[in-house]
Amino acid sequence: MTNEALNALLQDLTLEEKVAQLCQIDMSTFLADAGSPTGPMLEFNLTREQIVSAGSLICGANADAEKFAQIHETIRKESRHGIPPLIMSDVIHGMRTTFPIPLALACTFDENEAETMARVSAKEASACGVHVTFSPMLDVCRDPRWGRCMESPGESPALCGAMGAAMVRGYRGDDLKQKGTMATCAKHYAGYALCEAGRDYAPVDISRTEMYNTYLPPFKAALDAGCDMVMPAFTPVDRVPAAANRWLMHDILRERWHWDGMTITDWGSVGELYLHHLASDAKDASVRCFKAGTDMDMMSFAYFSGLKEAVEDGTVSIEELDAAVLRVLELKNKLGLFEDPNHGATGEEQLAMRGRHEHRLAALQAALKSCVLLKNDGVLPLHSGMKVALTGDHADSHRLLGAWQADGREEETPSLADVFSKDGRVAIVTPGEADVIIYAVGEDQDDVGESASKLNPALTAQQKADLEQLCATGKPVVMVLFCGRPLMIQEDASRCNAVLNAWFPGSEGAEAIRQLLMGDVNPSGHLSMTFPRCVGQIPIHHDQLSTGRPTEPENGRFISVYRDGSNKPLYPFGYGLSYTTFDFSTAEADGDALLDDTPVTLTVQVTNTGDRAGETVVQLYFRGRRLTHMEPLRTLLQWKRISLEAGESTAVSFTVRKSDLQTWDHDGQPVEASGMYDFYIGEDSLARQSAVILVK
Ligand code: GLC
Repeated sequence: MTNEALNALLQDLTLEEKVAQLCQIDMSTFLADAGSPTGPMLEFNLTREQIVSAGSLICGANADAEKFAQIHETIRKESRHGIPPLIMSDVIHGMRTTFPIPLALACTFDENEAETMARVSAKEASACGVHVTFSPMLDVCRDPRWGRCMESPGESPALCGAMGAAMVRGYRGDDLKQKGTMATCAKHYAGYALCEAGRDYAPVDISRTEMYNTYLPPFKAALDAGCDMVMPAFTPVDRVPAAANRWLMHDILRERWHWDGMTITDWGSVGELYLHHLASDAKDASVRCFKAGTDMDMMSFAYFSGLKEAVEDGTVSIEELDAAVLRVLELKNKLGLFEDPNHGATGEEQLAMRGRHEHRLAALQAALKSCVLLKNDGVLPLHSGMKVALTGDHADSHRLLGAWQADGREEETPSLADVFSKDGRVAIVTPGEADVIIYAVGEDQDDVGESASKLNPALTAQQKADLEQLCATGKPVVMVLFCGRPLMIQEDASRCNAVLNAWFPGSEGAEAIRQLLMGDVNPSGHLSMTFPRCVGQIPIHHDQLSTGRPTEPENGRFISVYRDGSNKPLYPFGYGLSYTTFDFSTAEADGDALLDDTPVTLTVQVTNTGDRAGETVVQLYFRGRRLTHMEPLRTLLQWKRISLEAGESTAVSFTVRKSDLQTWDHDGQPVEASGMYDFYIGEDSLARQSAVILVK
């Protein structure tokens, strides 16, 4: 549709029809089996006209191209203009083919893996009639008590932004009008992961400085990549919930970033203003959110009546209303929905996209690179002829997908027992008969994700007791850990000979674990989130600010340490072992000063000093010395995955620009980098200093 026709359509809408375009309702208003809701359901006191005029439908896992085609036909016949609704769903790490959870995918430190996941997801989900995905989730996570860490690319703003931008590219493709693409929604804007004590939905208190330097940048990266929508978080900034926060929704999005896309609340957020005593009725709540800059109301139904009243009494002008409705119509037009409401989805397309071999292969590759080898005393890799015991809750479990698995099916997810039964190289025996015991254990996939906070994210008492018994056999124990967040495994890991963290590895996760344990593939994942030793250390992350009191030696006085435990993480951000080893030279800089228009390139020589090929992630961190504000002890700046044959060396270079080191002050003004900067290059965030550069 041309812009002129779009504006003509807008002008021809009644007030009720315009308001309805800013309302999202659940697919269950049309379909009985639309999939379970992802939030508290309210009574649907909606008229038939409101239902067929709603601007968007949210659907669960049961997206179906043919049923959606019928819904579009119903809407075309029953509503005055037959404007097709945006069909939105949570497709965050796969649709029918499930990829590793985003927290695991980030451990690849490979944006191509994130882009591939998104492209496959878009092909499968759009074939089922889904137009928009509520992804990427870009919450920078530092608290494993929060169940939603699994949905995030982890604790580094740089890694979150890079993985999020790659997902946006993968979902959207080159042209949203093409079938096999999906529009995108960056969430939860912003700072939700700081919910107090890791308790989901709990209030958040963030300084503006931390917003500008940590929590906003990943969203800017996603919007720069073309992200179509932004979803404000349930949580507040400056004691105002994000959906009603004009600084977030207007001053930053519209004025600072000049972004003109559509915004949509999280589930029921407009109605939550009543619970915060920030609004007394639907109109009050609607005005606060709409005037802040929130276009669409997801599932609180407040806008239907409240926004209408606000326009009728002049609190909201018709021009303000039209601007929001136009953003919704423009997204529909970008998707080509006025010409084809189902966006190329048909029953045949849906079947053709199901279980495609190349999709499963892509999920396998992602899982192979997402698993992180945390410990290995040499017991791994396993070798032919071994007698192996395979035990633990996840040994013959198909529940390897994680939460938010969309249309992923357990019956299409082989278990470890399934894949090892086909590997003729090792005999599967009882622990008593075994040379090595594989203990597959961890969280259940329903125990992670939204509203899944835990006071002590750890193995269960039974799992710990079972581990103790296995260790008592005197046989080597390899723990394969399944989790949606870092678990407190200090004691458990100390008992094991090896620990492979598989997170929730998806549809092909078991096959990936088998290939890694057997040494067919060398582990290469690196942690996207720090593993604390215990809950008492939380929050603990690589980019914590400096302290005026040293943290060494740990038995010191008047320094920043604990009396009853260590400061150091169990496994630091960026950490991951391989079956080989890598040696790093000191960095060579091609200049000794970083100027406005003169970047510096740092180069290290990396050598595979082991006896087998392997991949690793070379990471570049920095820290300034003469600063105007305190800065993190380490900030991840760049990274590169490399693959080296045994004995092979290669030069790895990073080009650093002065602007890369810039930070922001409380008012969002740039703080120019100047002074001496230390750079650290290595395989994790504890890498030693590699170079010192003067920044002028
Ligand atoms: C949920 C989640 C959000 C999701 C939305 C729609 O409450 O907070 O991440 O996209 O509702 O399911």
